[in-house]
Amino acid sequence: MKTLIYGGTFNPPHLGHFKAAAAAAEQLSPERLLIVPDNIAPHKEMADYTPEASQRYEMCALAFQGIKGAEVSDMEIRRSGRSYSSDTVALLREKYPEDELFLLVGTDMLLSFEQWHDFEYILKNVTLAVISREKDDKEKIRKNISYLSGKYGARSVVLEAEPFVISSTEICALLPERKGREYLSDSVYSYIIKNRLYGAKPDFDWLREKGWSYLKKSRIPHVMGCEQKAVELAELYGADVDDARTAAILHDSTKKLSPEEQLKLCDTYGIINDKSEMETPKLLHAKTGAELARREFGANREVCSAIRWHTTGKPGMSLLEKIIYLADYVEPTRDFPGVEEIRKAVSESLDAGMAAGLKNTIDEVKGYGTVPYKDTTEAYEYYRKLSE
Ligand SMILES: [Fe+2]
Ligand SMILES: [Fe+2]
Repeated sequence: MKTLIYGGTFNPPHLGHFKAAAAAAEQLSPERLLIVPDNIAPHKEMADYTPEASQRYEMCALAFQGIKGAEVSDMEIRRSGRSYSSDTVALLREKYPEDELFLLVGTDMLLSFEQWHDFEYILKNVTLAVISREKDDKEKIRKNISYLSGKYGARSVVLEAEPFVISSTEICALLPERKGREYLSDSVYSYIIKNRLYGAKPDFDWLREKGWSYLKKSRIPHVMGCEQKAVELAELYGADVDDARTAAILHDSTKKLSPEEQLKLCDTYGIINDKSEMETPKLLHAKTGAELARREFGANREVCSAIRWHTTGKPGMSLLEKIIYLADYVEPTRDFPGVEEIRKAVSESLDAGMAAGLKNTIDEVKGYGTVPYKDTTEAYEYYRKLSE
């Protein structure tokens, strides 16, 4: 049997890694393709932003899905300390004594091979499967292979693959700028955003695509309008525009759930509700939506809080909380009677807008013959006094 070893830091695993593994799987047809994330790389310092080894392992499990025979091994992570390929090869040699072992290496690794720990042992036990990392490095590869083979009897095969010219380090530098997602699989990118790795902030096109997938189609124009209005208000009143955009995109993500589903999600998320909230599950989407934004989209505290209070309001709201409450209320697709007066109040001040919006809600609720929610009446009193 053929076993191909593909080790690396995978920080994070990107499409270049995937393509290299896929090309190797196709051209060598190994029965086993072991992806081995290292615990601590032997040859370089791990960057400060490096996530836990277990998180790199989980990202590898997502990144290499779909490649025949691929499995992610935690053998180096479990071994702890610096990860030497020679130790890994020794363990695999022992575990699979009859196997033909291959080690996948990129051009850069091949050029520094003599600096590897116990490299002569590795060369005795594996065939190098070399994949180019840069354009036009065929000659470099050929020379090095012939050198290693002449001096140490190294065995090797050169794989045909289109080089993928971006590194994990470069991708990490792009992620905080809301860029770089095109170099990652969607599942790895989602994992990075969800777990707030590398200081990554979501690309807004991606966030819309994911956020809207939670909505009924008919609600998308409202959420688009809310985003537009939230950005406008954030610019006008000096709030963080990106936070306003994020909160607006995600504010109604759990709105389509039925009351039963809302209560079930509250249970899953450990959200505790008082009696009146249990009786008005329609309002719970603010709480579950805030929690979903935090858990699935790595949203910060300000964004989650703005989503949390967008239905009822409360006294003493933050700038962003007021912006999302009001953007939701007066975004361009809203056309209920009285919306123009609230829009006018919002353009005068956010507090005046809050008073007008809250009063409208209280009148509307009373019109149905129901009692307004406590946070809403308290908020109205608060903003009415402030805007007098
Ligand atoms: Fe809502
Ligand atoms: Fe809404």
